[in-house]
Amino acid sequence: ESSTEIDTSTIQPGQAIKAVFRKQPLFVRRLTPQEIAAANAVNVGSLRDPQTLQERTKEGHEDMLITMGVCTHLGCVPLGAAEGEVKGEFGGYFCPCHGSHYDTAARIRKGPAPTNLEVPEYEFTSDTVVRVG
Ligand code: FES
Repeated sequence: ESSTEIDTSTIQPGQAIKAVFRKQPLFVRRLTPQEIAAANAVNVGSLRDPQTLQERTKEGHEDMLITMGVCTHLGCVPLGAAEGEVKGEFGGYFCPCHGSHYDTAARIRKGPAPTNLEVPEYEFTSDTVVRVG
């Protein structure tokens, strides 16, 4: 179980799916143009864990945000990857355990989590298929 293959072709803009990578939840999200614009509008220097959306995605695939679904505070699974789930104040993910809010690039914006949701090692093996790990 060193790697996981994911077909992203059915993920619509604004949708996310949950997968599993090394026995942990993995979030695969196709951002809308509005979500990309919101991520790019942030002053990166003001962030707790300063990273651009471009640094957190692959060139040519800036709309595919692939992160671990594990809150960097104490490891709960944040909400926001399933339809109808609360996404928090910054439109990304929300960890209800102690109230960490992540933005549309899954960067920590408010609450106790020290760092952004982790982006695992991955690569696109075709236009739509991703191999994680
Ligand atoms: Fe997510 Fe504490 S585990 S906020």
